[in-house]
Amino acid sequence: MTRASLDKQPHEVAAMFDDVAAKYDLTNDVLSLGQARLWRKAVARAVDARPGQKVLDLAAGTGTSSMPFAAAGAYVVPCDFSVGMLREGRKRQPWMPFAAGDATRLPFADGVFDTVTISFGLRNVRETDAALREMLRVTRPGGRVVICEFSTPAWAPFRTVYSEYLMRALPPVARAVSSNPDAYVYLAESIRDWPDQPALAARLQAAGWRDVAWRNLTGGIVALHRGTKPAG
Ligand SMILES: C[S@@+](CC[C@H](N)C(=O)[O-])C[C@H]1O[C@@H](n2cnc3c(N)ncnc32)[C@H](O)[C@@H]1O
Repeated sequence: MTRASLDKQPHEVAAMFDDVAAKYDLTNDVLSLGQARLWRKAVARAVDARPGQKVLDLAAGTGTSSMPFAAAGAYVVPCDFSVGMLREGRKRQPWMPFAAGDATRLPFADGVFDTVTISFGLRNVRETDAALREMLRVTRPGGRVVICEFSTPAWAPFRTVYSEYLMRALPPVARAVSSNPDAYVYLAESIRDWPDQPALAARLQAAGWRDVAWRNLTGGIVALHRGTKPAG
């Protein structure tokens, strides 16, 4: 069983997701206490996919995060670097154009997507800033980015309770439902290590995104960041 460490070596991260692929979606639902579905709806609203648009769902895993954009009539490309997650996705959604690719070296031409989105993926990418620049490169001028990621609860007492949940309650629950419980130790550690809302917004700005803003979900357990690629 593979568990990535906080230096996020790409081969370790990919192998860890290969291990959890089969039970990934079920485990998500259980560990998020059902919130995962609400977060996905909020992402769908923020992306606001329309028929005819091209949407890149980066670090798409099994493609569950890509479904709402396809349902809205957009052409969605789910892209991931875990062969195990891609295989599971292709089994479930054979009609989706799954693409193998690393977020820091995307196999797409400049400016081809109207919107690039990434759900619960950016935190796992070792070179965050390189990924933010690659996402900008493949987005058309005037196009948008939407990032859904675990973040920092805004209210201090809630932050403490949540931190306890992550470090104490989550590992035993993960042992009961996941095929690789150690992966959920990495999950807890990587959430604690991740930049808070203003810090991630600053990194989006530094990568070249404009009109950067965010919205907290479930008190800031998750944040939705968005930005626009400057036109011309
Ligand atoms: C927690 S899963 C999220 C999957 C999906 N977006 C969802 O919301 O269910 C994170 C995914 O990020 C992928 N990933 C991590 N680093 C990546 C990278 N550098 N390039 C492409 N995919 C990556 C992993 O393989 C994994 O499938």
